[in-house]
Amino acid sequence: MKFICRKPGDKSVEIIRRDAAVISPSLTREYSFVFKKGRDCYIWDVDGRRYLDFAAGVAVANIGHANPEVKEAIIRQLSLGTHCGFSDFYAELPVEFAEYLVSFLPGQLDTVFLSNSGTESVEAAYKLARWHTNKKWVVAFENAFHGRTMGSLSMTKSKPVQRNRFAPFLPVKHVPYPYPYRMNMADGECADYCLERLEDVLRDLRNRCAAVFLEPIQGEGGYIVPPKEFLAGVRELCDEYGVLLCDDEVQAGCYRTGRFLAIDNFGVEPDVVSLSKAIGGGIPLGATVARREIMDWVPGSHANTFGGNLLACAAGLATLRFMEKERLGEKAVKVGAFIKKKLQRMMEDYEIIGDVRGLGLMIGVEIVKDKQTKEYGTKERSSILCNAFEKGLVLLPAGKSVIRICPPLTLEKQDAERGLEILEDSITETENKYRRR
Ligand SMILES: Cc1ncc(COP(=O)(O)O)c(C=O)c1O
Repeated sequence: MKFICRKPGDKSVEIIRRDAAVISPSLTREYSFVFKKGRDCYIWDVDGRRYLDFAAGVAVANIGHANPEVKEAIIRQLSLGTHCGFSDFYAELPVEFAEYLVSFLPGQLDTVFLSNSGTESVEAAYKLARWHTNKKWVVAFENAFHGRTMGSLSMTKSKPVQRNRFAPFLPVKHVPYPYPYRMNMADGECADYCLERLEDVLRDLRNRCAAVFLEPIQGEGGYIVPPKEFLAGVRELCDEYGVLLCDDEVQAGCYRTGRFLAIDNFGVEPDVVSLSKAIGGGIPLGATVARREIMDWVPGSHANTFGGNLLACAAGLATLRFMEKERLGEKAVKVGAFIKKKLQRMMEDYEIIGDVRGLGLMIGVEIVKDKQTKEYGTKERSSILCNAFEKGLVLLPAGKSVIRICPPLTLEKQDAERGLEILEDSITETENKYRRR
C-alpha cells in the first residue's frame, strides 16, 4: 500500500486498507490522516496522535470540533425526532432557523430554501436564477469552484480532473477572475481587465443571461482575494444588464472573513446567497437565500427530501447562536491579522513564499520555486504540507501551489503561534531541500 507522507500508525494503516477496498477512489486525500475525534481546534487520529487543525474539516468547523452547545442541541432534538419531511409538512424548527439566518444577512435577503450541502445550495441558486429570469445562460469565473453536481459543476472550473469526461455542460460562459499576483497587474488594472471581459460576455448574451455566479474570495481555486473595486464593478454590470448576482458563500461565509458574508467586506449586496459548510456546525446543511420577489418559483418547481431536516436545523440554530455570542467574526479578524502579519514577515525571509493574502481566517500562502519567475511550487507545497503534518499541524492545499489556512474561528493566539512555528519549520526544511542554487 502506498502512503502519502510517512507511514501512519497501525490502526490508521488498517483503516486505510479497508477504505481502499470499499470507498470510491474519486476522493482526494492529501495525506494519511484517519480521524478519531476532535475538540475545538485539535483533532486526533485513531493511533492517538494529536494535531492542531488549520483545515477545520475543509472550512466546516468554524465553531470548533465537537462544540458542546451544538452537541446539546442535537441531543435535545434526537429525542424528539430527526426528520419531518419538510417539503410535505410543516415544522417550527426550520422556520426558526430561517428567521434567525436572515437576521445575519443584508436587509433584502429574506426567503430561504433549505438543503444539505454546498453543491445543492448552489444548484438551487442556479435553478432559481433560471426560473426567475426564464433565461438559459449564466456567467461564472475561471478557476471557480461551485460544487460537483451537474449544474454547479458546469460553473466549476478550478481543476481539469473535475470536468474531464463530464461534458456536455449546461450553458455557462467563463470569464477571468482577478488574480493580481498571477496576472502581474496592479489591483485596479486587474479589476478593469476582468470587468471588461465580463462586460464583453454580458453584451454578447444580452437578454439571454440569467445570472453571474461569483465566489467573493475564490476558495478551492487558491484563496484569491479580488480587488475591492472588482466586486462593486460586477454589481454595477449585473444591474446594467439586468442579471442576478449570485454569491457563493459556501466556503467564505459564516464569519470566516470577519463578516458573516465575505461579500460584506466589499460593500456589495448580492441578489442570491448560497451557504453551507460551517452553517450546520458539522451536520450537513445548505441554505439558498434570496429576496421574496426573486424567490417566486411555484410549488413543486424545486424541493428535496432532507431540506429542513430537524437535526440539521437544531445544529444550525445552535451554531449561529454560538457564532454570535462568541463574536467569532471579531475573533477571526484579530487572530487572522496576527497570522497574516507573521506570514508576511516570513515572506521576506523565504524565497519560496511568493504571496500571502486573505481576509480574517481565510488566508492563502502561495508557494513558488522562486520569487522572480513565480513558477508554481507544487512539489514544494506538498512537501510543506507533509512536513507540517508530521509535526502535528493539519493544513490543506488550494489551487496549484497555495497552502490554505482556514482554522476554526475559535483559534486562540497561542495556538495560532504554535501552528505558525510548525509551518515555518516545515517551510525551512522544504526550502533547504528544494531551493535552486
Ligand atoms: C465555494 C464553494 N462552493 C460550493 C462548494 C461545494 O460544496 P459541497 O462539497 O458541500 O457540495 C464548495 C466546496 O468546497 C465551495 O468551496
